[in-house]
Amino acid sequence: MAAKQSVNDDIQLVSKQRVADYGEVYTGQREVNAMLDLVKQETDRIESRFLEPACGTGNFLIEVLTRKLAKVASRYSKSRAMEHRIEYERYSISAISSLYGIDILQDNVLECRGRLFNYYSNQYIDLFGLFSDDDLPNTLKFILERNIVWGDALTLQTVGDNPKPIVFSEWSLIQGGMVKRRDFSFFELLYQSENNSMPLFSDTGDDVFIPEPEKEYPLTHYLKLYEAGSSDI
Ligand SMILES: C[S@@+](CC[C@H](N)C(=O)[O-])C[C@H]1O[C@@H](n2cnc3c(N)ncnc32)[C@H](O)[C@@H]1O
Repeated sequence: MAAKQSVNDDIQLVSKQRVADYGEVYTGQREVNAMLDLVKQETDRIESRFLEPACGTGNFLIEVLTRKLAKVASRYSKSRAMEHRIEYERYSISAISSLYGIDILQDNVLECRGRLFNYYSNQYIDLFGLFSDDDLPNTLKFILERNIVWGDALTLQTVGDNPKPIVFSEWSLIQGGMVKRRDFSFFELLYQSENNSMPLFSDTGDDVFIPEPEKEYPLTHYLKLYEAGSSDI
């Protein structure tokens, strides 16, 4: 396999074969910025959710994370004091857990998760120094394993030995650093709203389709989310 390159190298192809087989051409940083500027009010909103359904190594997701974490830092990292560190952790977890991706190539998925994890960690270390224990990195890894899916965005199934319907977790930050996790079938999200002829979102106040989760989890502290078990995605 050809060596992987990322947007940071400003090189947009891995190999001609992968372009032919998977249409794998990465979007350049300038285009990513121009497109995200069109939805600036959403990239500035810490909890607004983004799904990149053929995410490659995450050129859009990393930029959305960059913008959201800049917002979190400007609001919640006034000092290295513990209360500011905790505020930053809660809202930065809300930011990173709102990003979702799917890619059919496993190496892309692993690289995408790694880029998001490394960017988050470097920002955190710059602001507060090293993680105080393994809880925060474990939570980050767990969320990224669930949110960045090795899957096929056309069949809506995971890829690998045991394909299953893609399930996304919604993570909602509740007061006091508690998080509500609800799992939704991607198929249901897409097709039930279509069958009900109702949109999933409305800016004009029209009725919207409210999907039913397929599983709900008890409220859990953000630093303990990973204890729900390893993802099988
Ligand atoms: C044109 S690249 C775009 C990557 C990234 N979104 C970007 O803009 O830089 C297309 C990506 O889609 C992936 N892909 C192709 N078919 C797919 C499918 N059926 N489901 C999910 N991903 C797919 C490829 O592996 C590749 O990473």
